[in-house]
Amino acid sequence: MSNLSWGLEGKSILVTGSNRGIGKGIAESLAKAGASVGVTYSGSSPESEAKAHALCKELEGYGGRAIAIAVNVADEDQCKAAVDRMVKEFGGLYGLVNNAGVAIDQLTLRYKADDWDKLMSINLKGAFLMSKAALRPMMKQEQGASIVNMSSVVGLMGNAGQAVYAASKAGLVGMTKSLAREFASRQLRVNAVAPGFIDTEMTQAMTPEARTKLSAEIPLQSLGNVEDIAAGTLYLLSPLSRYVTGQVLSINGGLYM
Ligand SMILES: NC(=O)c1ccc[n+]([C@@H]2O[C@H](COP(=O)([O-])OP(=O)(O)OC[C@H]3O[C@@H](n4cnc5c(N)ncnc54)[C@H](OP(=O)(O)O)[C@@H]3O)[C@@H](O)[C@H]2O)c1
Repeated sequence: MSNLSWGLEGKSILVTGSNRGIGKGIAESLAKAGASVGVTYSGSSPESEAKAHALCKELEGYGGRAIAIAVNVADEDQCKAAVDRMVKEFGGLYGLVNNAGVAIDQLTLRYKADDWDKLMSINLKGAFLMSKAALRPMMKQEQGASIVNMSSVVGLMGNAGQAVYAASKAGLVGMTKSLAREFASRQLRVNAVAPGFIDTEMTQAMTPEARTKLSAEIPLQSLGNVEDIAAGTLYLLSPLSRYVTGQVLSINGGLYM
């Protein structure tokens, strides 16, 4: 991606859940593109905070600025505080990637109602609360602004054993299109990325047999990597996509067409 100018130099962009996995890949690509990046972590494990700080150091090695922010996206006050911190540190907010998410998978008959609440509060409510907190500063951006929501192929095609996760990801699509319509007149664009199966801790939880079987079902014959998702996300954040809003960009190796 080094020869292409995304037009993101110096732009302040918050990526939730970016201490690892897909979010980390997006944060790295943004830093290489010259953006100022907010790296968030939830603190779910003892390594979670350390990973965020180590990543910020790595990102600053590309010449830009990066800050680590602890935020539970299910908590409205913490979302507001994260956005305030970005505005204070970087003088405004141009971009938001609602990437934080969890998968709690179980067959429907065994699914616990508490797990529905937990998953929805992070995957769907979290993206809404973070967007709500970000909208005012983003509307002040003179050259427009961009939100990208991380949906999933299973939100589009469904998956046995993932009814709740799929519902949260399908919900993000409806939210994306509604916010896109509500804020288009303010030059604030809202789009979604729907990754297929990507090689991260989330999919490493699958058995090797399940991964092999899955790869065979993907027309391009393999899981994707975080750089594949970062490339699409940077496009939607970039002014290169200035005429694109309310869309879902599928990056899935052809798994769902
Ligand atoms: N991997 C895939 O194949 C795939 C496919 C389609 C869509 N997706 C979506 O892509 C996104 C990233 O997936 P991933 O595979 O990179 O996930 P991951 O490796 O499991 O990372 C999840 C991230 O979300 C953060 N997080 C979890 N709960 C949070 C909370 N309450 N508040 C704030 N942050 C929280 C985690 O922070 P801590 O480290 O502090 O816990 C971590 O940074 C998710 O939305 C996922 O649903 C993934």
